[in-house]
Amino acid sequence: MTRRSVVRGAGHRLPERVVENAEFSATLDTSDAWITSRSGIERRHFAAEGECTSDLALAAARAALADAGMAPDDLDAVIVATSTPDFTFPAVATMVQAGLGMTRGFAFDMQAVCAGFVFALANADALIRGGAADRVMVIGAETFSRIMDWTDRSTCVLFGDGAGALILEAIDSADRAPRGVLATDLHSDGRQGGILHVDGGVSSTQTAGHLRMQGKEVFRHAVEKLAATATAVLRTSGVAPEELDWLVPHQANLRIITGTAAKLGLPMERVVVTVQDHGNTSAASIPLALSVAHADGRLKPGDLVLTEAIGGGLAWGSVLLRW
Ligand code: ACO
Repeated sequence: MTRRSVVRGAGHRLPERVVENAEFSATLDTSDAWITSRSGIERRHFAAEGECTSDLALAAARAALADAGMAPDDLDAVIVATSTPDFTFPAVATMVQAGLGMTRGFAFDMQAVCAGFVFALANADALIRGGAADRVMVIGAETFSRIMDWTDRSTCVLFGDGAGALILEAIDSADRAPRGVLATDLHSDGRQGGILHVDGGVSSTQTAGHLRMQGKEVFRHAVEKLAATATAVLRTSGVAPEELDWLVPHQANLRIITGTAAKLGLPMERVVVTVQDHGNTSAASIPLALSVAHADGRLKPGDLVLTEAIGGGLAWGSVLLRW
């Protein structure tokens, strides 16, 4: 018997306000045609004034609990992947714990920027396999609109706000085609920190700062590193790319998504793409895409799903799971 983490529920929350590409043309030298052709993004959601990362995370968590048919106190742990917390502390995860009315267990945040959800999922799986927890809520939640430089057309048109959540539960399985998390693969290279960073922070400037990105450099690393981590996790599991039912990639740029799918030899019909409607929601993008595809019936129990992401750090990785 092998102890594994299976997905029991998923949920998401997007802020109500939808911002179409054309809105940026009013204040910036940009166009819907440029944004769509370079990134695939057509619109994104921005949080309302006073609407914080924890509000989005809490709503996604409630939706995931409802989907799983679980109560807050069924959970042993809450992990929130975010780079845009409400406060320096307490953690968003403990705010979600309190908001759910959860009176037991533990909660903490993880920060690996756009790769945050993949890192959180791998850590939740390790907690479950190690016996520290039986049920873990894993959330990706961001309000990147709060760290945009609205005069920088090369970044501010690319990002959006939102949250997605999965609930993992321990099972003991002797199955030859087991469900749940099958393999994980994590990497980082701090030498590349400068190509995608925020120019402020608690200990340096005592400000939140703004996102800065050398887009071309990030793009170059993304295509190469995402294909490598995806290939590694498939090789570890003895799974051929053509056996995958779904690739659910980080939603940063449609050209990166199609490039990675092509390297894996996967047709786009087997790739979940939400970047056109959500923009890049950093750590929230994968759980948002998973939850959307679960809700609309694309993801079915037993489907073999590969997720992969790269972001600031640089940090990147992938998770292979059977839904
Ligand atoms: N509208 C119009 N023109 C623009 C805009 C805009 N919004 N932004 C930039 N341009 C201009 C540039 O100024 C440049 O003009 P120039 O040639 O006169 O200097 C021209 O368009 C081309 O700019 P490039 O940067 O070369 O455009 P590129 O084709 O590389 O696309 C993009 C830029 C979309 C940012 C791309 O590089 C990219 O997607 N990079 C990866 C981003 C990413 O994946 N990030 C993921 C991680 S995010 C995270 O972890 C937080």
